[in-house]
Amino acid sequence: MKISVIGTGYVGLVTGAVFADMGNEVVGADIDQRKVDRLNEGVMPIYEPGLEEMVRRNQAERRLRFTSDVDWAIQNTEVVFICVGTPPKNGGETDLSFVESVAVKIGKNLNGHKVVVNKSTVPVGTGDFVKKVVLMNKRTDVDFEVVSNPEFLREGSAIADALNPSRVVIGASTEDAAMKVMELYATLEAPVFITDVASAELIKYASNAFLAMKISFINAIANICEKSGANVTEVSKAVGADQRIGPEFLNAGLGYGGSCFPKDVVSLERTARKLGCDFALLREVMKINDGRVDHFISRVTKRFPNMKDCVFGVLGLAFKPNTDDMREAKSVTIIQQLISMGAKIKAYDPVAMDNARDIISDITYCDSAYGCAKDADAIILVTEWREFRLLDMRRLGDLMKSKVMFDGRNFYDPEKKKSMGFEYYGIGKGEI
Ligand code: UGA
Repeated sequence: MKISVIGTGYVGLVTGAVFADMGNEVVGADIDQRKVDRLNEGVMPIYEPGLEEMVRRNQAERRLRFTSDVDWAIQNTEVVFICVGTPPKNGGETDLSFVESVAVKIGKNLNGHKVVVNKSTVPVGTGDFVKKVVLMNKRTDVDFEVVSNPEFLREGSAIADALNPSRVVIGASTEDAAMKVMELYATLEAPVFITDVASAELIKYASNAFLAMKISFINAIANICEKSGANVTEVSKAVGADQRIGPEFLNAGLGYGGSCFPKDVVSLERTARKLGCDFALLREVMKINDGRVDHFISRVTKRFPNMKDCVFGVLGLAFKPNTDDMREAKSVTIIQQLISMGAKIKAYDPVAMDNARDIISDITYCDSAYGCAKDADAIILVTEWREFRLLDMRRLGDLMKSKVMFDGRNFYDPEKKKSMGFEYYGIGKGEI
């Protein structure tokens, strides 16, 4: 099938690469000429395991190419995926201006029947909006359909998630349009849910908000654990063993970050409000999440009441492992707060330091975790990169001024760390 994917951000790039890999002819279109040039040279704009190899292979086999000529991409394909950003506006509502400008272009370039598939995360009702904009701009008497096909892939495991989705959701108003999109997923062994457009749009937000709620829930439980002597890891393991609850997204820590959960929870709350439904639960989910860094810092402050001239080694800067994405990364606020209290920060991240440099200055970037540990009063683990599990802890501890460790993700085994002489503080495991 001939497909265009408008927008070569996370979702667009991975979607395009995966559809090409499944044998389709894919054009990735983006208005950012520099990005397109680099993609055509095989240089990825993001770090995502397996992506570069997949893109290059499909480019070599001429199933995947990139262009900044969005009009051309639309004119020459039968299925057009909208994969542009939907950032939050100041009030938290979703900014649909990028989606709108693509819809205008689709209208203007409608030269035959096309299925317009919205993969960007958009509030319920956006499908109707896109349809209206295309209709207003079309110059020919040809039909089109607007379908919602939300994406559930995670950064850091995007390729694997796209190839093995938990489900495929297709929201369409006609069977023909639904079938056309379903054809694209025919080779994947995943349950398919065919719904109306509005339900598909809401499924995406309901899923992300529910996962965010699980995280905030376990973080609230972690606070109780700290006061009561319970251990949140034990609690979450046994709670998650109930199949009705499930073990995933029950890791207590510094809270959720990234480009999706924070903005999607707010957006759903605003949508609910607009429709006259008060979703107070979501406000609490956000409040708990927003309080995580302050809570964590208050624990560090208890141990180091006077931070002036204290040196902290921060391990991990990205919002989560296996990505270089710094959007809504907890490292940023943690470091800012520590600096404001007089501390000096050394930091290391396996892949996110280039992006971090644009956001965080006044710290020392190190080329390894050991560099971070040298002369540090404490290590603060913010992002649970796998390579941090393989560290030589004796060497790390010997380099430090004092062997204190704050584990913001409950990544390490407290008993093991204590037996190696570390003063260890996790999340939801006892008071300081
Ligand atoms: C999330 C969803 O998981 C995807 O299904 C969805 O497609 C994507 O948003 C999106 O809407 O585009 P992502 O933001 O890449 O994916 O990352 P997650 O793995 O979901 O992690 C989100 C945040 O929650 C991270 O900051 C992570 O550290 C935190 N988290 C996750 C926890 O604090 N505890 C957990 O148990 C799990």
